[in-house]
Amino acid sequence: MNSRKTIVAPSILASDFARVGAETESVTAAGADWIHCDIMDGHFVDNISFGPAFVEAVSRHTSLPLDVHLMVTRPDHYFPRFTKVASSITSHVEAEHDVADTLQKVREAGCKAGLAVSPPTDISRIEPYFGLFDILLVMTVNPGFGGQPFLPETMEKVRFAAKAREERGLDFHIEVDGGINIQTARIAVEAGANLLVAGTSVFKASDRAAEIASLRIVP
Ligand code: DX5
Ligand code: ZN
Repeated sequence: MNSRKTIVAPSILASDFARVGAETESVTAAGADWIHCDIMDGHFVDNISFGPAFVEAVSRHTSLPLDVHLMVTRPDHYFPRFTKVASSITSHVEAEHDVADTLQKVREAGCKAGLAVSPPTDISRIEPYFGLFDILLVMTVNPGFGGQPFLPETMEKVRFAAKAREERGLDFHIEVDGGINIQTARIAVEAGANLLVAGTSVFKASDRAAEIASLRIVP
């Protein structure tokens, strides 16, 4: 059962970077709960997005929590550069690091620790880390680019995580990221997700406030 409040996190990757301050203020005023920041290193994924200076610039235009998603090969090396401004920092289970150690160090730095799993990865890979993360990020597209279609088969992972959380008496957010719009948000919330990242659907909406309000689906 998913009784958690739905959190909507627009992804700044879909914003107009030339006006990132105004874009950040726009989604803040439109009722966003968190702001999602996608860090891509051109190695873990085939795209380069932005780094700590950009996230710091975003932070100057909002008081909302910043949800940093590291799509980098060495999250253990790069996460300390985000701890000052991030509320949560998510690393991939597929990246090259000691996953448990990174999660623990992110928490020690005062941030929520997130663990992300890409569509081709078996969900059993997260088993050793239960209890060590505050957010489980189930990627609903292959990481690297905004604007891709939602992969419905990833909902199996969301259901698995929701069940495991209940059985083990754990407390963590289940986040979905990629291709989230009003239709797919409903599917994800019904499967057990409560933290919804939405890039294209929010930034390209003619009424961002209405879009965010419609995405905040009641479980
Ligand atoms: C994809 C990123 C997503 C992306 C989502 O690799 O992790 O956060 O910004 O964008 P949309 O909502 O456009 O699929
Ligand atoms: Zn993301």
